[in-house]
Amino acid sequence: MSLSQDKVTIPGLRGMKQKGRKITMLTAYDYPTAMLLDAVGIDILLVGDSLGMVVLGYENTLPVTMEEMLHHTRAVKRGCKRGLIVGDMPFLSFNVKSELAIENAGRFIKQAGAEGVKLEGASESIVMIIRNIVQAGISVMGHIGLTPQMIHQMGGFKIQGKDPESAKVIFESAQRLQDAGIFALVLEGMPNDLAKKVTEQLSIPTIGIGAGPHCDGQVLVTHDLLGFSESAKPKFVKEYASLYPGMFEAVKSFKQEVLEGSFPSDEYSYC
Ligand code: KIV
Repeated sequence: MSLSQDKVTIPGLRGMKQKGRKITMLTAYDYPTAMLLDAVGIDILLVGDSLGMVVLGYENTLPVTMEEMLHHTRAVKRGCKRGLIVGDMPFLSFNVKSELAIENAGRFIKQAGAEGVKLEGASESIVMIIRNIVQAGISVMGHIGLTPQMIHQMGGFKIQGKDPESAKVIFESAQRLQDAGIFALVLEGMPNDLAKKVTEQLSIPTIGIGAGPHCDGQVLVTHDLLGFSESAKPKFVKEYASLYPGMFEAVKSFKQEVLEGSFPSDEYSYC
């Protein structure tokens, strides 16, 4: 079954904002997940660096490498026809020098088939780097608020923009990023009112995660919404399914049946 419509494009996303049509974005790191999200008609497939924590077992996103990101982006590309594929630039792949940032952003497009890249942060140097990547002809999605690559500076995964000063920084960063040419902006981990103000201020779409209902779109980590593991989830995660108990029981049944010799029965054998 496929619920797909037309191919999602960057101008199309802006049109969705103008029409008040909410944008859906989910993470994908592999071929079957990309096929699933595309069949449902999810607008943006983000090959997030959350890959590091969700499927590679790292403690945080900092160790993720360009090679790992490209490997998984290629798999997503093979499973996705309609959705827009965005590759997440890993820590230190962009925030060192513009030349390296353009080269790495270009690898997502040329070697892995992504249609845009996402960069976390909005410091002066990052905004300059984003401007240079955009001028090189690569579409960039911004990401501000709770930016997991700054886990140590933030002292953990903490909600941002709660006091007037930090809210002002976020508000101004959003405008600066739009001026630098980004096509969409992820707002993560911030109060609803602030995300609403930012969304109203910008002509590009905002995509929220833990930023309330007023953003132009919403993103979640697919493994979280499917309940793929039993680990504790942040407040903003809604588990639409709890796959873990079913998967656990299935694997347990396989183990039991093999140990007792009841699998494979004649039904599953070439007698
Ligand atoms: O890496 C990621 O999955 C992300 C989203 C949660 C926005 O950056």
